[in-house]
Amino acid sequence: MDKCEIKKKNLAIIGLSWGDEGKGKFVDYFSQKADVVVRYQGGNNAGHTVVCNGKKYKFHLIPSGAVLEKEIVIANGVVIDPRVLLEEIALLEKNGKKVNLKISSTAHVIFPFHKVLDGLEEESKLDLAAGTTRRGIGPTYSDKASRWGIRMHDLIHPDILKMKLMKLIPIKEKIIQVFNPTYKIDFDSIYQEYLEYGRKLKPYIVDTAPYLNKLIDEGRKIIFEGAQGTLLGIDHGMYPYGTSSNANALGIPPGTGISPKKLGKIIGIMKAYTSRVGGGVLPTELMDDVGDQIRKQGNEYGTTTGRPRRVGWVDLFNIKYSIMLNGVDFLAITLLDALQGINPVKICTHYELNGTPLEHWPIHPEIIEKCVPIYKEFKGWDVKTPEEWSKIATRGYSSLPSEMREYIEFIEKKLETKIALISIGPSREDTICLIDDLF
Ligand code: GDP
Ligand code: IMO
Ligand code: MG
Repeated sequence: MDKCEIKKKNLAIIGLSWGDEGKGKFVDYFSQKADVVVRYQGGNNAGHTVVCNGKKYKFHLIPSGAVLEKEIVIANGVVIDPRVLLEEIALLEKNGKKVNLKISSTAHVIFPFHKVLDGLEEESKLDLAAGTTRRGIGPTYSDKASRWGIRMHDLIHPDILKMKLMKLIPIKEKIIQVFNPTYKIDFDSIYQEYLEYGRKLKPYIVDTAPYLNKLIDEGRKIIFEGAQGTLLGIDHGMYPYGTSSNANALGIPPGTGISPKKLGKIIGIMKAYTSRVGGGVLPTELMDDVGDQIRKQGNEYGTTTGRPRRVGWVDLFNIKYSIMLNGVDFLAITLLDALQGINPVKICTHYELNGTPLEHWPIHPEIIEKCVPIYKEFKGWDVKTPEEWSKIATRGYSSLPSEMREYIEFIEKKLETKIALISIGPSREDTICLIDDLF
């Protein structure tokens, strides 16, 4: 097969903001045409909701392609809490879903002491705390980087697991004792618990890099499911108020072992407004009744932690930066229905610093908090029932309220990127696709 043709077959679905943009919905939407769905970074800090035939599925680790019983892969860049993974597999099977899963042998494993350290480090960081999900994500990636990490391969080799845990546990115990002098880690119970996880997960564990490359060479269609969002990314997000992986398209090659040449199209998912969970400056944040109304209408409560999400006006200045970083080909805009009944609605077009417009999103929180977001106002659209929004979605773009179309068209023009998908409800069907054969 011609190499260019192979390249076009894959699709990356990436959050452009602070997470929760609706990635899960679009992974499910495109899964209909995919052969395989791959998670490549993050862990069970993610919370992806898919609504299908009136049923709600919440995923933390398992790729959202599982709803359609697609082949799913948890690749090497993910950090895995085996207990959470086994629970998710069991829940899907209980719902009658066949789980066709492969797990990378080189993905790193989250242990209970990582979760303890996540909490202790957060509490020590005070105003530098990101407000983590406390799932042990940061400490597990730290161990990976400092080469203390334990990988899925080790879980299925008792001797390796024992040897590594015997070295790691005393060190972790000493570090935790800095915060809590009486803290003890019971080697035997952890070793036995994780051996058991290894026994249960062994049938799924493979070397996913050669496996995925083979699938690509055979011309199979792969979706790369991003978790978190570009602005939370470790290298290019708002450090330190983010997560510990490259939560963007740049993370795909190292997180899967697939060459950048083979990635294919990149869809950036953005909300019609902004939301964020956790710490760090949010320039367009709404702390008033309008913010409360958006939070309520958008049901902005974390899928993973249940925390109320902070909300604000859409910020095209940081989305423009995310589009550049990811090399976004097309945009999907979600939760437009959640802005209903709000008048006016505002779009942040850029920031000014000391009265001067900035050229690009200034990245550093210390600079961003000094910036003034500049807005353009738009007339809002009327309230409709979810059923009315669904009907509008089946009728297509021209049936959208004219005020909403004006809003969308301004965003497309300002971002200089084609909006391919419009989402006006949580279900797969509440979607208007403006480009045929996108995938
Ligand atoms: P993800 O982490 O990017 O997958 O996003 P989440 O699933 O955490 O959060 C998005 C939430 O919005 C979920 O509850 C979705 O079901 C819901 N959702 C997605 N698109 C729309 C939409 O267009 N309208 C409404 N009302 N809800 C949506
Ligand atoms: P999905 O995939 C929104 C945020 C946390 C915190 C920071 C670091 O559903 O979009 P971590 O536990 O990763 O060390 O926390 O990142 N965060 C998310 N925010 N959606 C997510 O995932 C998130 N995953 C992590 O709130 O500020
Ligand atoms: Mg989420």
